[in-house]
Amino acid sequence: MADQNELMELAKRRGFFFGSNGAYGGTAGFYTFGPEGASLKHNVEAAWRDQFTIRLGNDEIEAPTIMPEAVFEASGHLDGFDDMLVECAECGASHRADHLIEEALEEIEDAEALGIERVGELIEEHDLACPACGASLAGEPVEDFNLMFETSIGPGSGDPGYMRPETAQGIFVEFPRLKEYARGQLPFGVTQIGPAYRNEISPRRGIIRVREFTQAELEQFIDPEEDEPPLEEVEDVEVTLYPVTEQDADDGEYLETTIGEAVETAVIGSPWVAYYLGIAQQWYERVGVDMDRFRFRQHLSGERAHYADDCWDAESEIGGNWIEIAGFAYRGCYDLTKHAEYSGDRFTVFKRYDEPVTVETATVDPDMSALGPKFGGAAAEVAEALQERAKTDPEAFESDEVTLEIDGESYTVETEVANFAVEEQTESGEHITPHVVEPSFGVGRTVYTLLEHGYTEDELDDETRTYLSLAPEVAPTNVAVFPLVSNDDELLEVATDIAGSLRSAGISVSYDDSGSIGRRYRRQDEVGTPFCVTVDHEGLEGDAEPTVTLRERDSARQIRLPVAAVSEQLETLLAGERTFEELSEQYGDVETDLTTA
Ligand code: GAP
Repeated sequence: MADQNELMELAKRRGFFFGSNGAYGGTAGFYTFGPEGASLKHNVEAAWRDQFTIRLGNDEIEAPTIMPEAVFEASGHLDGFDDMLVECAECGASHRADHLIEEALEEIEDAEALGIERVGELIEEHDLACPACGASLAGEPVEDFNLMFETSIGPGSGDPGYMRPETAQGIFVEFPRLKEYARGQLPFGVTQIGPAYRNEISPRRGIIRVREFTQAELEQFIDPEEDEPPLEEVEDVEVTLYPVTEQDADDGEYLETTIGEAVETAVIGSPWVAYYLGIAQQWYERVGVDMDRFRFRQHLSGERAHYADDCWDAESEIGGNWIEIAGFAYRGCYDLTKHAEYSGDRFTVFKRYDEPVTVETATVDPDMSALGPKFGGAAAEVAEALQERAKTDPEAFESDEVTLEIDGESYTVETEVANFAVEEQTESGEHITPHVVEPSFGVGRTVYTLLEHGYTEDELDDETRTYLSLAPEVAPTNVAVFPLVSNDDELLEVATDIAGSLRSAGISVSYDDSGSIGRRYRRQDEVGTPFCVTVDHEGLEGDAEPTVTLRERDSARQIRLPVAAVSEQLETLLAGERTFEELSEQYGDVETDLTTA
């Protein structure tokens, strides 16, 4: 396991990420990805796009990050997107009240679920102290703090707007148009990768809890009565689950199972959620998460977001703690219904029946000249109640009289005055509000997990070596190319040519001719470059076909292969079509260890 301080130091020194605005004293909760980190992050995003947009046949959009207040009134974020805030009266520091409880009381894993009042009581009962200055927080008010960043749209006082706290809303509000692109056919999925903003009370642990971060989200729109996921594609995928029942039990354990079994035994209630857990498991494995330090944990009921019916988190183990790296929520029809209600637009799709159906509709046409004299001021309400009764209880109109209850009063109406009739109508379909299943990934937390899980130390040539065992697909650089020494024109020329031809083949290359070769290997090891090509004198000697060495990062083993084969072999290695082991069998390992040259 990586020492967190060493990892943060490496991230800064080697240009993965560092606190932003350092020249101005830094701004808590904002991080800049340096050259290596930006490249790693973009590669993670590309791998996500490949799986969740391209392979699953979904559409990707890019919506604005600022949205008007009405959107968040409808979504519920304005009212309910709060964290528990407690401020220290002594030094003014702000803290997440629920986190203070979790850190101080081992037996409480999810203090948010306890509610604001109980959290305040626990702070008092245990006389918790301010982590910044040590003063007692007992008796300090615990308050809801809305996490959205507010802004104003337009000059002057403008219209209130907010930085989106999740990319999802940019998809939901465009549903009336997006469904047209999908030709009104369910199921369909829309993805988006982009920034989200949350004014976190206490940002911490590097890029794990920040105020601006990148999400990769998929909104899967389904007909809940008809659409089923292609579960057979993932039914054999093995997963580690931590369901609510096990979290609640004293001796709770992980459930090692398959997606298929978890659905059959109803451990995962929604087949759609289960399907995406299976896809996600495979994707995390592909990008290099250590699957022995990975699990899916079901949300406890008090923990679920305001919109979610069921929710599972993908969690990775970092420095001995589990952190949420993605959430998988069954959002039901919550979002589309709310946006329909608040906007007045149509957030439904037309579901055509296989065959047109004839439906009987019961109607009334009350005779007001009879109701008026009989019921006076209540006549209009009686007429309305008759309409409602015809819809819900048409049999009532088979008697001579219908009795209605309005605000505790009984009204009896002669049936013939109601003019009750049953009309037949032929309908070809109905407007339904789709349900939403949402896999939502945090890109920064995935990046951090890859760095943490890939961070390795070993002994090489009597020295401690640090390397990042990143999957070639996401490593910031695919290949480093070195001339063994920098003062030999022939070596430089061949090395530059190789670098050029690799770049033309779409391989990302770092060319380096400075310092000892051992040092250059170490630099590349530390940023996770999977392969190094070295042009040396031995490979260019005599009339034989020129050769170079190819070194694999994790094993530090080297083979010698013809210059003419370098590009093709690296392409197959990077695509995972061949292994280094296979190449080593074909070309043989190089005995001389250039690492120490
Ligand atoms: N649309 C659903 C949604 O936003 P979420 O669980 O609040 O769900 C999804 O966020 C993911 O975004 C999380 O699993 C996490 O990886 C990432 N995330 C959330 N808040 C974050 C923060 N303050 N800093 C970094 N990543 C964050």
